[in-house]
Amino acid sequence: MFEDASTTGQNSKKGKLNLKLTMGFPLNERELKKTVGDHSRLDVLLWDKIQVMSHRQRIIMAIIIGGSLIYFTITQVLLVVAKAPSEPTQPEFRKICTFSLERETIYGPAEEESLPIIYVVTPTYKRPEMVAELTRLGQSLLLVPRIHWIIAEDNRECSPVISNLLTRFGLPYTHLVSPMPEIYRKERYIPRGVSNRRAALQWIKENGVNHAVVYFLDDDNAIDIRLFEEMRTTKKVSMWPVGLIGDYSVSSPVVDKMDNVVGFYDGWPADRKFQVDMAGFAVNVGYMKKQPKVTMPYIAGHEEDGFLKSLNIRYEDVEVLASGCTEVMVWHTRTTKNPTRSLRLDKHQHDNIKRLTDNMRQMGMIK
Ligand code: UGA
Ligand code: MN
Repeated sequence: MFEDASTTGQNSKKGKLNLKLTMGFPLNERELKKTVGDHSRLDVLLWDKIQVMSHRQRIIMAIIIGGSLIYFTITQVLLVVAKAPSEPTQPEFRKICTFSLERETIYGPAEEESLPIIYVVTPTYKRPEMVAELTRLGQSLLLVPRIHWIIAEDNRECSPVISNLLTRFGLPYTHLVSPMPEIYRKERYIPRGVSNRRAALQWIKENGVNHAVVYFLDDDNAIDIRLFEEMRTTKKVSMWPVGLIGDYSVSSPVVDKMDNVVGFYDGWPADRKFQVDMAGFAVNVGYMKKQPKVTMPYIAGHEEDGFLKSLNIRYEDVEVLASGCTEVMVWHTRTTKNPTRSLRLDKHQHDNIKRLTDNMRQMGMIK
């Protein structure tokens, strides 16, 4: 706000003091000496400054300060007095768009039996949002026939809260654990969810049926269940766009008029052969089992690319879905991280809050 008089004076080429207040009243050396004398305190300077203002300048300043005070007072009073009523004075706008009392199913039971299975591989790890994410995702999967959900925990122990959730949902499932090896936790870019996805892949290789596809769906993503019917009949590998990835809005194969993949788009120059998102492709299990060395590397950002390369797939093998990769049916959404808090419970040792927090602790929501 205020330049130090001594330094400004020394630096000034013409030897003139060029002292300025941000309010915009320049002082020259003579004026300064007259008004300031030996004082160097800001308040004294300001006061003296006001003393030398012209009548007009004082009126303008008074209007500005007075106006601001009045404005502030009025807005504060309005906030208190003119608060919106708890019941609106006008009737609200309401309209029913459409409704249905029918419960429709896509397949009949007989038809379902012959459908290829979809192995949905979901890596997960303990954190406050885990149960919320798995509940949302699992209940989407409940709407889909012939799903086998593989929940692969990045953990040493099988979390009871996940076991409970899986038995409650009643889906066919496999719950397994495989913690990330310590050496990868120390990396600058951590390959998240890789150890557990690799364990799920091994399980599928050993136990999966051939008439099936495998699909990686992270616990924090959101999916339109129509996508499952698109991917169900994948012969080798199929691909489609994924919405809302990080800072850019979409990741998608680029296809030509004949629906052949010619490259990839995701807002960055493609530096990987298969610059796809984890949620952007599905693989036929029979085909996968025939490949000699299927693996997902521990390289952050290159997991999908490495995996697809290990499947010996070429661009011309890719089956293009979602209306020629023009529609978004899955979103790489991200939940903002919640801190794991500890709660003060001294006053609640004998009421519901105590049990509520015990349950939350089991879910990993609090310490
Ligand atoms: C996702 C992919 O999962 C990465 O493999 C991929 O490299 C990355 O996108 C990318 O394409 O850029 P991101 O969404 O950034 O990663 O990370 P998270 O959502 O934190 O983790 C991915 C999955 O791994 C989640 O299902 C999460 O539950 C699981 N995870 C995460 C673990 O199992 N362990 C961890 O320590 C962290
Ligand atoms: Mn994620």
